Amino acid sequence: MNPIEWKNNVLYILDQTKLPWKEDYILCFKYQQVIDAIKKMKVRGAPIIGVAAAYGIALAAIKYTGSNLAEYVHEVMSEFAISRPTAVNLFFAIKRMANVINSNKNLSPTELKILLLEEARKIENEEREKTQAIVTYGVEILPHNVRVLTHCNTGSLATIGLGTALGVIKEAWNKGKLSHVYFTETRPLLQGARLTGWELAQERIPSTLITDNMVGYIFSKKLVDMVIVGADRITIRGDVANKIGTYSIAVLAYHHKIPFYVAAPLSSFDFNIENGEDIPIEERDQDEVLTFSGKKITAEGISAINPAFDVTPAEFISGIITDKGVIYPPLKDNIIKLKEEIKL
Ligand code: MRU
Repeated sequence: MNPIEWKNNVLYILDQTKLPWKEDYILCFKYQQVIDAIKKMKVRGAPIIGVAAAYGIALAAIKYTGSNLAEYVHEVMSEFAISRPTAVNLFFAIKRMANVINSNKNLSPTELKILLLEEARKIENEEREKTQAIVTYGVEILPHNVRVLTHCNTGSLATIGLGTALGVIKEAWNKGKLSHVYFTETRPLLQGARLTGWELAQERIPSTLITDNMVGYIFSKKLVDMVIVGADRITIRGDVANKIGTYSIAVLAYHHKIPFYVAAPLSSFDFNIENGEDIPIEERDQDEVLTFSGKKITAEGISAINPAFDVTPAEFISGIITDKGVIYPPLKDNIIKLKEEIKL
């Protein structure tokens, strides 16, 4: 299963809003369809949003017949940049595509279009490889017979590769190291119940679904040895933006002395931001909270808030599993060290 695929100048996107009931692909012939799919979360999860945007930009360029390709692609990139604000992978991919345009000003439009598509393919392959590395580093630090809790969906659907947190969990199962997975339903859009559940069922991994508000209960019953979640943006000091609810899980894990790990590629790090407070948090339509399965669940006149993410301060994090190894506290020092080592 490929959650997105480029074939004959068409981007195929597996519609994640229809899972697990239906495996339906959207055929994107125009870049606007890709933006729409990102906004409506038909494709979602930080790494894959970046890959989808890169292909969407290449698609826009390939379909363009006007006389100023560079200017047009820059306009398209600014439309992608406002599709979802929190996951930094989107901006990482846009920057990579912008570099192609900016450093090849002497090329013909045809040559530029080829290069843009090649860059999108490169981003896709790199993201795939990064998940392999994360999984390898992650499995090493897991104790035997571990019982893990995860939140949201961080598997193949979210990453195009093996997955980050869920990739580590799946590999731990394959290696005989995992005893059980608890996964949250992840209100309001149920990425856990619908998508993580779907991925776990495919691999027949022993698992139990819990509602988001059961986390404290199962920690208090000593049913979990370790938490692993993904990330949408990680700052220099190691603060992590991830799906709403992650912060509460981290605080509870801290109270119960349960190690709390984050798994993410380096494309999820934002080296321009020091503090988590400065990460832009996406606020989605309140109707996603006020309805369930398309049906209104509140009385008329009730309003809601719908932040899609929250920020877990570095202090609550036991380690960050990246494609270049595991970063341990003090997170800020070690993130800076890694950044310098790999010359980012
Ligand atoms: O709103 P979503 O479904 O795009 O949020 C996804 C998450 O928060 C994931 O945990 C994160 O993107 C990491 S995916 C490897």
